[in-house]
Amino acid sequence: MARLAITGASGFVGRPMAAEAVRRHTEVRGIARSDEGGRRIADVGGRPAVVPRMEPGPLAEVFAGVDAVVHLAMIGRERGGETYEAVNVLGTRAVVEAARRARVPRVVLFSGLGVAHYGMTRRCTNSYFRSKLAAELELFRSDREAVVFRPSYVVGPGDGLVTGLLREMAEGRVARVGDGGYRLQPIAVADAAAAALAAALAPPPGRDAPPRVIDLVGPEAVSFQSFIDRTASAARAAGHPAEFRVEEVSVEDADRAAAAGGFRGLGPDELDCLLCDEVSDPGPLRHLLGRPLASLDEALARAVRGAPGPGPTR
Ligand SMILES: NC(=O)c1ccc[n+]([C@@H]2O[C@H](COP(=O)([O-])OP(=O)(O)OC[C@H]3O[C@@H](n4cnc5c(N)ncnc54)[C@H](OP(=O)(O)O)[C@@H]3O)[C@@H](O)[C@H]2O)c1
Repeated sequence: MARLAITGASGFVGRPMAAEAVRRHTEVRGIARSDEGGRRIADVGGRPAVVPRMEPGPLAEVFAGVDAVVHLAMIGRERGGETYEAVNVLGTRAVVEAARRARVPRVVLFSGLGVAHYGMTRRCTNSYFRSKLAAELELFRSDREAVVFRPSYVVGPGDGLVTGLLREMAEGRVARVGDGGYRLQPIAVADAAAAALAAALAPPPGRDAPPRVIDLVGPEAVSFQSFIDRTASAARAAGHPAEFRVEEVSVEDADRAAAAGGFRGLGPDELDCLLCDEVSDPGPLRHLLGRPLASLDEALARAVRGAPGPGPTR
């Protein structure tokens, strides 16, 4: 039986990933910092391991005997004393060192789409993307086999973007930053999970394989305005209230609000991720999976069906 350790397994991407791995008869050791996180992992069939601090010693104990580690536990916003340096960079260093000590040959890491444009565009040049770049380097510098995924928005039940839009639509007003022409290329959470599992459980590529970096993007790049429209269609089809007007907020006002504590729940780096206009070629991901990717409308329909709030069955 294949064995996998997943950090951040209690999270939005981690739980469906753990569930799918279990469905494929893979043993999943899911790492969480608390018993509550552990319960969320057990709920989907994983074996929880509570490691309160990301340190090599306790992580190596959990990693003993696994075929690969999937490292998801990182943050997209600094708050409550958690810094990108401590969580994203030093946490990744600890995971990589633990993999070395436990002789786990392969580490799969979730970075961010846009890292490749650090220093090239303003919205990709912030401390979040820098920490993801540094996390990648922690892995590339090691002697473990490295697979890095760089996700665009991951869409599925409970994701922040769709959930926020549904709430605003139910309130009758959606705040759109600027003209909404900036693009995104959302990927279904089930495809993100399947891709990570395909990479984690593939046969060994041979000695000294170069690191692999794969952009985790869906089949369709859309403008944010189009994403609003498509989410509204999915919401109406599922019986969610979606009669609303779009109110434009200037980019400057949104930046000011984000810096002062949050724009519609987004911190400055999260706003950069929305506005960064990053898209990519889904070909390498499709090749890895050996099948077509879920369409944006399928991904949105699943996200809306799983979202909290008024729907036909509630
Ligand atoms: N979702 C997206 O659209 C998206 C887009 C781009 C990149 N990514 C990347 O993909 C990965 C997974 O994303 P996600 O949306 O599943 O994230 P998530 O829901 O926030 O889950 C991440 C998990 O990390 C753990 N965690 C949080 N802070 C931590 C800390 N300080 N130390 C150790 N563990 C901590 C939490 O588990 P416990 O509290 O149980 O320990 C949490 O469940 C992340 O690396 C993220 O940056 C996601």
